[in-house]
Amino acid sequence: MTTELATDRIIQIAYLIATVLFILSLKWMSSPTSARRGVRAGELGMLLAICATLLHRGIVDYRSIAIALVLGVIIGVPLGRVHMTAVPQRTALSHAFGALCVALVGTAEYYLRAPHVPAVMMAVLAMEVILGSLTFTGSLMAAGKLQELLPQRPITYKGQNIVNLSLLAISVALAVLLVVDPGHTRLFPLIVAIPLVFGVLMIVPIGGADMPTVISLLNAYAGLSAAAMGFVLDSKLLIVAGALDGSSGFILSVIMSKAMNRSFANVLFGAFGQVQAAAAGAHEARPVRSATAEEAAAILGAANTVVIVPGYGMAVAQAQHKVRELFDALTKRGVNVAFAIHPVAGRMPGHMNVLLAEADIPYDKLLDMDAINPEFPQTDVALIIGANDVTNPAARTDPSSPIYGMPILDVDKAKTVMVIKRSLSPGFAGIDNELYYLNKTLMLFGDAKAFVGDLVRELAGGGL
Ligand code: TAP
Repeated sequence: MTTELATDRIIQIAYLIATVLFILSLKWMSSPTSARRGVRAGELGMLLAICATLLHRGIVDYRSIAIALVLGVIIGVPLGRVHMTAVPQRTALSHAFGALCVALVGTAEYYLRAPHVPAVMMAVLAMEVILGSLTFTGSLMAAGKLQELLPQRPITYKGQNIVNLSLLAISVALAVLLVVDPGHTRLFPLIVAIPLVFGVLMIVPIGGADMPTVISLLNAYAGLSAAAMGFVLDSKLLIVAGALDGSSGFILSVIMSKAMNRSFANVLFGAFGQVQAAAAGAHEARPVRSATAEEAAAILGAANTVVIVPGYGMAVAQAQHKVRELFDALTKRGVNVAFAIHPVAGRMPGHMNVLLAEADIPYDKLLDMDAINPEFPQTDVALIIGANDVTNPAARTDPSSPIYGMPILDVDKAKTVMVIKRSLSPGFAGIDNELYYLNKTLMLFGDAKAFVGDLVRELAGGGL
């Protein structure tokens, strides 16, 4: 066997192992107990794939690769150190870079091969470039909105959807022309430029708060374009990795849309943030019952079962470590404490799981919606910490509500409900929450971290 043949074999075996590691990585990441292993497997798979690619005999000069590597590290290390609440925009930036790379590789491949590009190859190349380009600008826009560098509110105008869909249709039509005759080299820049514009316009009418769903959809596009690049470059590893990325992004978008009771079309064209803007501040001035930390701690300390419902406010306040202290204080008193996790609590998938894991809350205490909902009627206290929409009974009872039909945590069925938040302001959906006006509800007004800290102090005070 020649050295070249042996190297090729080593590369293929390394790619195969990397593929298996990517699949295992996704599988392990689906459970908090194995998620760390999943991340390690993904990292190892990527390292193996990069090392194997560096052995490729097609590489003639390692200097430019070394420069790109150094630049990548310089950009990548600070990107990896962002705050938990900034992870969605960081993820969007990763998609933007990946998609830009895909579009550039596709462009280079076209000009290297044109005009002799077989029809199937040209179709895949066009798909790669269109998806890569629109994902690049779309992801940059999404990151900009989430980072509040761009206005978060949806910007709409008459005929917007028609303009956007026409741009997409023109790109596809140009791609068809190129498939028929790949020699139209002057048309090619248009299937890069028009999708770049489409990416921007596609995000403009979407509210900032819908961005996590959009980002996961862009994740799916980036994965699909990478899989197309795999076909063009004849790389089975890229095809598999792209398909895994694309399908997992798509599944995640479906899960998020379902949990918010929204359709894709509604997320992409519904300008949901407008509802939020219109309704914000419009909550009713009705009386509510409130309590001090001392009173609340007395009730919690005397309870048999407490279910803690974390939400976006806990994340904003970074209250998870104080919540852990509260969990310890109550458990020490013999109170049975569990956590109710709604799939879209917070602003990104798994937001609550990650924060509570960071605070070392035992995984078996985290119950998802289907497991915890039947328990609420037997629960003494449902303690809501910075959650709002995911507890709003209007989702069950008010057909006119924008969140009607969204599956919620049935906290209103608990014997007593306590809500820690700073005011009666609405949450993401911008609507009032009937829960706050129930006789069984006690509002605990304050910042989540400060209030939970007060509860812990009261419970430790010995007077209770
Ligand atoms: P929200 O309904 O957004 O409510 C969060 C509440 O936290 C607010 O009402 C706010 O009230 C309170 N808050 C803010 N800062 C606080 C602080 N420092 N201390 C205490 N409370 C604070 O949150 P949720 O119940 O977690 O629901 C999530 C919403 O986001 C859903 O509507 C969901 O559809 C949407 N969404 C989720 C995702 C994902 S993937 N998770 C993606 C997109 C959209 P005050 O201002 O009165 O304090």
